[in-house]
Amino acid sequence: MIRTDNLRSAYIQDDVDEYLYGLLPERDAVVAEMEDYAAQNDIPIIGPAVARMLALFVLVSGAKRIFEMGSAIGYSTIWLARAAGPKGKVIYTDGDPEKARRAKDYFRRAGVAKRIDVRVGNAHDLLRKAPGKFDLIFNDVNKDQYPDSLRAALPKLRCGGLFISDNTLWSGKAARPAAPDDVHTLGIQEFNRLVYASKELYPVLIPLRDGVTVCRKQ
Ligand SMILES: C[S@@+](CC[C@H](N)C(=O)[O-])C[C@H]1O[C@@H](n2cnc3c(N)ncnc32)[C@H](O)[C@@H]1O
Repeated sequence: MIRTDNLRSAYIQDDVDEYLYGLLPERDAVVAEMEDYAAQNDIPIIGPAVARMLALFVLVSGAKRIFEMGSAIGYSTIWLARAAGPKGKVIYTDGDPEKARRAKDYFRRAGVAKRIDVRVGNAHDLLRKAPGKFDLIFNDVNKDQYPDSLRAALPKLRCGGLFISDNTLWSGKAARPAAPDDVHTLGIQEFNRLVYASKELYPVLIPLRDGVTVCRKQ
């Protein structure tokens, strides 16, 4: 199987999903190892299809100062750092020190350690405390926290900057009534309403894999 189970789209037909993943070029040894580790250990990474799109947004926007909320083993971080180039700086954040330790090892082996600043703790607090504004903020924390991610990100994003969030279709559950205790679906739904209602943002929800919302700050 080209596309492992942890990357399965809930609403794209299986054969089309396999086709899409089959088109992707092979990844280098470190990134391929991370994909295998994530598949074997149920680590929810964005995977190569979304990662390419993330990298494309970095390349076309010329983003150099990047903040990532929810970095886990650093898979998305490596794609961001490579796209940002040697003058880029990516701030990695995760609440789990063990994941951060593993991520640091991957960064060293991938040759991008100098471009990445690893911070362990609450991503929203770390973003609020970080000096200056960012060209691009990528959000992939727990889904019940997405409305807070938006509140934390907006003041820290420069005008013209991009705020990108993964999983905004949430296996299609975003489109259906949520149970009162389904805090993750409720969080995604509120987030989607907020970004489309915001006068400060120009959002587009792209239905790739689990949904990716890309917002430009006006
Ligand atoms: C979906 S994974 C991130 C995957 C990563 N973006 C990738 O694609 O390679 C979510 C991660 O966010 C972390 N996390 C969740 N809420 C957080 C928060 N408020 N602050 C920091 N980390 C958080 C979890 O520990 C987990 O490792």
